[in-house]
Amino acid sequence: METLNNYRVLIDDFIERLYRKKRFPDIFNEALFYTPKSGGKRIRAMLAMLAGDMFLAKLESSVYIAAAIELIHAYSLIHDDLPAMDDDDFRRGKPSNHKVFGEAIAILAGDGLNTYAFNVISNAPLESDKKIKIMEILSSNAGVGGMVVGQAADILSSENKLKIKSEKQLVNFIHKHKTAKLIQASVVCGALCGNPDISELERIKKYGLYAGVAFQIIDDCLDIVGDEKKLGKKKVDAVNNTLTYPKVYGLDNSFKTANRLKTMAINEIKNLKNSEGLINIAKLIIERDR
Ligand code: IPE
Ligand code: IPE
Ligand code: MG
Ligand code: MG
Ligand code: MG
Repeated sequence: METLNNYRVLIDDFIERLYRKKRFPDIFNEALFYTPKSGGKRIRAMLAMLAGDMFLAKLESSVYIAAAIELIHAYSLIHDDLPAMDDDDFRRGKPSNHKVFGEAIAILAGDGLNTYAFNVISNAPLESDKKIKIMEILSSNAGVGGMVVGQAADILSSENKLKIKSEKQLVNFIHKHKTAKLIQASVVCGALCGNPDISELERIKKYGLYAGVAFQIIDDCLDIVGDEKKLGKKKVDAVNNTLTYPKVYGLDNSFKTANRLKTMAINEIKNLKNSEGLINIAKLIIERDR
């Protein structure tokens, strides 16, 4: 726990320093950092740093990758909350970015964070070949090989615009892409700051996918059984006709599947050295109430 708090401070300080590089117009700088600086659990950042630790990465380098991933994650939340998407007025217990700065500026803040993340990585104190590999994975998993495509499928599905054979297949596609791929990139890119071998990296990759799908299943469950105050966001899935795990499989089965995925994630890495941190996060993903 102590380690996690230290990581949180490192990440928050790193993001604070980016914010303090004042840029014109001031109000746009505020919009850009309003969401990244509004807290959040920092799970992806923790995952990146813990995975780095396992393979003897230096914190001074993995923090760049962890912060960059939090910027991408914040951008995805800003866009996800827009009226054209989930139309959610609250995020992290505060008015959403577009409620404070307007839709146009919120869209641009998201765009800015997305590209800024890669600029941050380019400046990380790491060998160039590692940085290229990290950018390759992250740009795919956050983009058309992952999050963006998952979000597109999520929206098209909610508008009943997809011809599908099976809702089960579709919800699995959506969860894998919109959420799990970025979580997978967090552990893989964190690990790549150190020196994992191929088989270790393969295990980390599977851990990320299982833990990532479990993460979105629990997010869906909390949209039903959670407390809006604790969550810091509105429960909007039912109103938006979002295809969720509980909608397709029921609440009980969803919790069971998330638990099974947690165990699968842990089994992948439990025999690797120093994997306690990632094991604990897998448990946290299931046990959380926010
Ligand atoms: C919310 O992610 C978006 C999803 C992919 C479900 P988090 O639950 O990690 O949000 P923060 O960062 O803690 O606010
Ligand atoms: C969002 O899924 C996934 C993203 C890529 C942002 P949700 O729409 O369920 O996330 P929340 O519940 O708004 O945080
Ligand atoms: Mg959404
Ligand atoms: Mg949403
Ligand atoms: Mg949700």
